[in-house]
Amino acid sequence: MTESLTIRRPDDWHLHFRDDEMMRAVVPYTARQFARAIVMPNLSPPVTTAAAAAAYRDRILAAVPEGTDFTPLMTCYLTDATNAADLVQGHADGVFTAAKLYPANATTNSAHGVTDIANIESVLERMAEAGVPLCVHGEVTESEIDVFDREAVFIERILAPLVERLPELKVIFEHITTEDAVQFVDAAGDNVGATITPQHLHINRNAILVGGINPHAYCLPVAKREKHRLALRKAATSGSAKYFLGTDSAPHARGAKESSCGCAGIFNAPYALESYLTVFEEEGAIDRFEAFASENGPRFYGLALNETQVTLEKREITVEDEIDALGTPVVPFHAGETLRWVLR
Ligand code: DOR
Ligand code: ZN
Repeated sequence: MTESLTIRRPDDWHLHFRDDEMMRAVVPYTARQFARAIVMPNLSPPVTTAAAAAAYRDRILAAVPEGTDFTPLMTCYLTDATNAADLVQGHADGVFTAAKLYPANATTNSAHGVTDIANIESVLERMAEAGVPLCVHGEVTESEIDVFDREAVFIERILAPLVERLPELKVIFEHITTEDAVQFVDAAGDNVGATITPQHLHINRNAILVGGINPHAYCLPVAKREKHRLALRKAATSGSAKYFLGTDSAPHARGAKESSCGCAGIFNAPYALESYLTVFEEEGAIDRFEAFASENGPRFYGLALNETQVTLEKREITVEDEIDALGTPVVPFHAGETLRWVLR
């Protein structure tokens, strides 16, 4: 008999769908694996209003395959000029689930992000009052700060003071990559949670730089030293309710990655559950996978848990070298590797 694991259907608490053809190509991969997903607003131009988010949500829903039950949860891209009334009303109307803080120029399509957190202080106060969660890309952008230190410096300069100032604000420290972030989240109150990607559980910075530059292992925040990867694996599999699944799946055309200035982002949607479960198995924590994948996220956001279930079977699957995103080649995470679990 095949060994299998049946759990409550999971959600993805952080991902990028893009728009147009790419969006239509990638939505089915996520909708097959997850019931809901927090959709990042870093389109070009970014999703900054409730009206734009509602229209984007409709475009995503139109790309969900017939017969698949999937709900996109929309986010508002914060800028120096965010209209707090529109954001809070959009949240009350069920259009926005959260708002996203990109420090300006921290990553892909973040040029319109916040240039100084002081510029959105009144917006953050309104969010705290109205119960709108804040998703945070936690990296400083100062050129003199080493790229491998940007998350740790962000905690010290921006995040710790923010959480101190607004203890009522729900904060999701997204795609954490360091032991420093784990220590911060562990020590913070229940209003602070964190998502962890599959890639940061599987790879350290050697994957990007040893044996030649591998652009397909490059994302932001960039993977760090091995000790950080180990701290993340421990946090994800610890059973702590503060950590939950967020893939940060971020498709880019193969040519945009394999370029003299390769884009940041790893497309992990096709085998996300398989990838995470492999880690939980290696850590002897299969019994904690359901909480991480399907319970901690909705509880943190104050949303209902999914009622349906999914089953993963223990058998091998080799990941494709390339996926055809309606005419655009995209290299998936784990390309050419063999994973030990398969979503039924
Ligand atoms: O690697 C990343 N890719 N990190 C981000 O923060 C953005 C994302 C993207 O949109 O490609
Ligand atoms: Zn992201």
